[in-house]
Amino acid sequence: MHISLRQLRVFEAVAQNHSYTRAAEELHLSQPAVSMQVKQLEDEVGLPLFERLGKKVVPTEAGRELYHYSRAINRSLAELEDVMESLKGINRGSLRLAVASTVNYFAPRLLAVFQQRHPGIGLRLDVTNREMLVQMLDSNSVDLVLMGVPPKNVDVEAEAFMDNPLVVVAPPDHPLANERNILTKRLSDEVFVMREEGSGTRKAMERFFAERGVEIRHGMQMTRNEAVKQAVRSGLGLSVVSLHTIELELETRRLVILDVEGFPDRRQWYLVYRRGKRLSPAASAFRDFVRAEAARIAAPIAVG
Ligand code: PGA
Repeated sequence: MHISLRQLRVFEAVAQNHSYTRAAEELHLSQPAVSMQVKQLEDEVGLPLFERLGKKVVPTEAGRELYHYSRAINRSLAELEDVMESLKGINRGSLRLAVASTVNYFAPRLLAVFQQRHPGIGLRLDVTNREMLVQMLDSNSVDLVLMGVPPKNVDVEAEAFMDNPLVVVAPPDHPLANERNILTKRLSDEVFVMREEGSGTRKAMERFFAERGVEIRHGMQMTRNEAVKQAVRSGLGLSVVSLHTIELELETRRLVILDVEGFPDRRQWYLVYRRGKRLSPAASAFRDFVRAEAARIAAPIAVG
């Protein structure tokens, strides 16, 4: 069989997304290019690999078998890359780092210091949502991940390295802005601007209110911290955000932190990697650097 790694990559993307269109978007290819690769693979294998169930594209039995082997091949390739990386040593290696969107408020600061110390290391930073981070860990396509909620369904090492306090933010002219010791239940009268499903911040916020039996009113939903902050500034509601995201707004008094009982909600940031992964010298150096110095370099200003 003449199967190329590229065909396997396209095949996996279709299987994971259950859609040719979404696979094409993920791979930055056109939809016909994706269909063509799958068609060639089917010709090579001599069996259909996908069937349609309603709108979903699902693998046939042959497709499921191929998926299993394709994943094993890609894992082995990633491992091979790890081995080669570890032979390169710290001055020539590369580091693939992936972070949750909120982490991106401080990740560049960490990388700047790290890069100064190790100018020979090639750095790649992906900023993405939690679901993708978990997928990247699972497929071993990343060295280290910085995130708020380590996955339970992938075997990983997770070490907390810095506080991530969540606070309630409001525009400065909000009626609650000057009140002290606001009872949590008073927030049930307020509308909240929400992050998207899958955001760690949103998960934590929902858990906080659920644990206290407080039902909040959901307002608009936004996929970016920047959009949430703009919405709060424009009076569309309150929100709960990581303190890391609002340094500038606090300095310029465009947003204020409300003094609500139970806040700041103290969370942690975690450094996560696959258990048993052979970390390259570059990745080990970054792990040690984060353990020892991230909090000093990037801790948010203290509140509460
Ligand atoms: P997020 O941040 O809300 O940008 O996903 C991750 C987290 O806080 O767990």
